[in-house]
Amino acid sequence: MADNIHTTFEQLLNRTHREALLSQQAVSFWLTGLSGSGKTTVAKGLERKLHDLGYLCMVLDGDNIRTGISKNLDFSLDGRAENIRRIAEVNKLMNDAGIVTINSFVSPTKAIRLQAKQIIGDIFQEIYINAALETVEARDVKGLYKKARAGEIKDFTGIDAPFEAPEKAALEIKTDEETIEESVTKLFTFALSKIKYSK
Ligand code: ADX
Repeated sequence: MADNIHTTFEQLLNRTHREALLSQQAVSFWLTGLSGSGKTTVAKGLERKLHDLGYLCMVLDGDNIRTGISKNLDFSLDGRAENIRRIAEVNKLMNDAGIVTINSFVSPTKAIRLQAKQIIGDIFQEIYINAALETVEARDVKGLYKKARAGEIKDFTGIDAPFEAPEKAALEIKTDEETIEESVTKLFTFALSKIKYSK
């Protein structure tokens, strides 16, 4: 379908120019973990800290993706794979604009995360937000685990759909053993080490 689309002029500006303009390096931080593990909380904490230092960041999560660009997708394995493919393509565009992206998605299988990495490239940094199923189920912030146990939601990650923990995440954060502040600080320190420019 994209075969007939050609770049008809020499591209004068690329990611490197935009990164230099912003004095930052585009990195894609990819937070994976069970629903309720704290991904979006630490993602937003990281965004706040980086933003306060002058880095341009964007958090992508279910709130802004599943209600918009992925509105027509379900939670089957195919639906999730397509969700993650779209998110990864959006990441690529934002990263080309020089933006640091912070992703908060269950992204439950190794294959799905590999697909994201292949689209995004080497700047993809996988971060495992680890909290035990018992903990997230006890928290049940959105009441979804109760519904899943009652059979009112099908294919719920951790209940009747798989979650494959990453084996070689660049960083693992155990939100059931740390305070939110500790988790955010750990992620922030890691993030700064991956962004070439300092402000
Ligand atoms: S992913 O698997 O495609 O990466 P995504 O991160 O976009 O999932 O959305 C997960 C969020 O959708 C959960 O935090 C939860 O609030 C909600 N949700 C609704 N149905 C399901 C389900 N069957 N499995 C997991 N999460 C679900």
